[in-house]
Amino acid sequence: MKTLTVALPGREYDILIQRGLLDRAGQLCRAALPRASCLFVVTDSTVGPLYLNRVIPPLEAAGFKTAVCEIPAGEASKCAGELTRLWECMMDFGLTRTDAVVALGGGVVGDLAGFAAATILRGVDFVQIPTTLLSQVDSSVGGKVAIDLQAGKNLAGAFWQPKLVLMDPETLNTLPDATFADGMAEVIKYGCILDGAFFDFLAARPSREGIMAEIEHVLYTCCNLKRMVVEEDERDTGKRMLLNFGHTLGHAYEKAGHYETWTHGQAVAAGMVRASQLGETLGITPAGTADRVAALLTPLGLPVDIPCTHEEYAAAIGLDKKGAGADISVILLEEMGRAIPHKMPKAALLEELK
Ligand code: NAD
Ligand code: GLY
Repeated sequence: MKTLTVALPGREYDILIQRGLLDRAGQLCRAALPRASCLFVVTDSTVGPLYLNRVIPPLEAAGFKTAVCEIPAGEASKCAGELTRLWECMMDFGLTRTDAVVALGGGVVGDLAGFAAATILRGVDFVQIPTTLLSQVDSSVGGKVAIDLQAGKNLAGAFWQPKLVLMDPETLNTLPDATFADGMAEVIKYGCILDGAFFDFLAARPSREGIMAEIEHVLYTCCNLKRMVVEEDERDTGKRMLLNFGHTLGHAYEKAGHYETWTHGQAVAAGMVRASQLGETLGITPAGTADRVAALLTPLGLPVDIPCTHEEYAAAIGLDKKGAGADISVILLEEMGRAIPHKMPKAALLEELK
């Protein structure tokens, strides 16, 4: 088993990665949650039928009383209505302050169940059991939990670290190719911003099969990089912003497609290529970097160029939460594996994107 410890003072937790780990969820949750007698398990309508029968028996065998709440699969469930439903179900179940919430699913389940855990009874413990590649390499680690509002994604939320993150790479076998590729956009992002050797490792394995053959190493490397960033900047005021590489322009593409045409991963993929091109034009990123990033994304079926009008860029950049005032911080690559925030006037960025 590969183990990482996120060493946040007073809120330290382990990330455990191993094939078949779902079967050991009971003993591992027992060790991480010694006070809990009841577990409230949140999953979605796709993941529940696939994996609840693997997770509930070991939890009960470890002495936990369990209740399950299933949300409809999809981003639309990351909403105030589902959050309220979870709160009410938790109280009907008789959850107490020493009990805990388990999130079994992708980033939607993790973000929603984590926010419910952060807020019910002024905060109870929670465990992440992520089942998508994106949630294993990104959303289950670092404690950002949230729901979406009409005004935008992730606008109501909290920092609420889990007590344990359990990753079973075998859950990835049931993912559709497109969902696997979405997660790969974030995997490739880590190579671009923090680890050039990891980028080269991925470039040598440009297929789902190639990545799955090394999946424990891939998950460990990504989680270790995120761990280091979160330990340095839990509250997202400095280094954590580097994780937004490709996301500023990605938001423009997602928004331009009304959050339907392009998935988040597809938008981030094209955003990373466009940000690399931008860096090259500004003389910050070495020539040829955008082509290297594109060459890694294309075999995975990810787009490298998404049409976006000047007005759509303007709208997305104007609203971007990272762009206070007239300036915006865009994450650019100084070299493969090293990212920096580059502050520039929003108007100048728009001009460059023409
Ligand atoms: P998701 O949770 O919607 O999962 C994608 C789809 O895959 C869903 O239909 C789900 O039911 C299905 N699925 C999940 N596991 C499966 C499995 N093992 N086999 C088959 N199908 C499976 O989406 P996601 O891509 O995991 O996460 C996206 C969400 O994560 C967004 O809401 C995003 O805002 C959030 N996010 C949060 C953070 C953070 O730091 N908290 C970081 C990145 C993204
Ligand atoms: N996914 C961005 C972050 O966790 O900060």
